[in-house]
Amino acid sequence: MKAVVYEKYGPPEVLSVQNVQKPEIQESEVLIRIFATTVTAEEPKQRSLSFPWLIRIPYRIMFGFFRPKNRILGMEFAGKIEEVGAEVTRWKVGDRVYGYTGLSFGAYAEYKAMPESGILAQIPASKSYEEIVGITNGALSSLVFLKKKGHIKSGEKVLIYGSSGSVGTAAVQLAKHFGASVTAVCSTRNVELVRSLGADRVIDYTAESFLDSTDKYDLIFDTIGAISISQLMRKLNKNGRLLLTDFGVSEMFRALWHSIFGSKRVVIGASNFHWEARDLDFFNDLIASGELSAIVDRIYPIEEIVDAHRFVETGRKVGNVIVTI
Ligand SMILES: NC(=O)c1ccc[n+]([C@@H]2O[C@H](COP(=O)([O-])OP(=O)(O)OC[C@H]3O[C@@H](n4cnc5c(N)ncnc54)[C@H](OP(=O)(O)O)[C@@H]3O)[C@@H](O)[C@H]2O)c1
Repeated sequence: MKAVVYEKYGPPEVLSVQNVQKPEIQESEVLIRIFATTVTAEEPKQRSLSFPWLIRIPYRIMFGFFRPKNRILGMEFAGKIEEVGAEVTRWKVGDRVYGYTGLSFGAYAEYKAMPESGILAQIPASKSYEEIVGITNGALSSLVFLKKKGHIKSGEKVLIYGSSGSVGTAAVQLAKHFGASVTAVCSTRNVELVRSLGADRVIDYTAESFLDSTDKYDLIFDTIGAISISQLMRKLNKNGRLLLTDFGVSEMFRALWHSIFGSKRVVIGASNFHWEARDLDFFNDLIASGELSAIVDRIYPIEEIVDAHRFVETGRKVGNVIVTI
């Protein structure tokens, strides 16, 4: 089968399209023919190991110290079930599915074996592979930060800093679904998009800083990491929660400090340990009611994976970058 392979950590050019062995399934697995995957903000970091050192060391231990143990990156996929194992009852050949490989990676390929109970759901009839594939990473991360860890409540004042990326666009839609009053921060070119996703107020960070106003929030979700924790903490109401997707060593220590001594909480960490297959059923309900969609920026054929990585690495993608296979 065709797959994007990398043999060593490094720049986008370490990726190349090659022919590799098609996976064989176990009795409790399904084989998915993948038609669309994505380049999330995570994969360039995994490819080049550009993590803070406290994360880089355990990452190397888990996923290959000198070179990657798993040669195929990619976590989000949408495709069709081509084979089912003898014990599988939930899926049948021909089902259109989307999902997330988790840390087994391997979505940059024509085929992927997934456990029947993996993070996998039926694609709504109204959606194409390209339209659905970007749902998982952004919406699952946002669900964990906003709901499972941040305990967002109806009527709360929420600020989403970095509302135009994969996580931010999902976060605006989910926060509105949970009944929050949403202020979203993005650049001029994304103001109309973010407003169309339901934000009650949009602040263009190139024209004004939300730090200059006297407004305070119950929840601040920062998906960018460009503002200091102390500045963000000052914008929180009493018992407010600060949610950070992107963090370094100092943020980890400050989160610990505030959790022990402060009335305000800082939530950081890898959200994927809290993702569940049933979350995708919840997203399908929101897709059906028109409350959730995955924003598509550019679509690249798999042969242009190096360009797709270069683009995502600029940090300027709007929503999701899709790769067709
Ligand atoms: N901890 C976790 O579990 C977890 C889960 C998922 C993602 N993440 C991390 O969370 C971060 C966000 O992920 P993502 O997929 O949403 O990223 P992304 O899609 O790459 O975000 C890019 C967007 O951010 C906007 N942006 C850039 N600089 C900004 C600034 N200073 N202020 C406001 N907006 C800015 C860009 O638009 P403009 O340049 O036009 O402003 C662009 O639309 C990444 O670092 C990712 O690795 C962590």
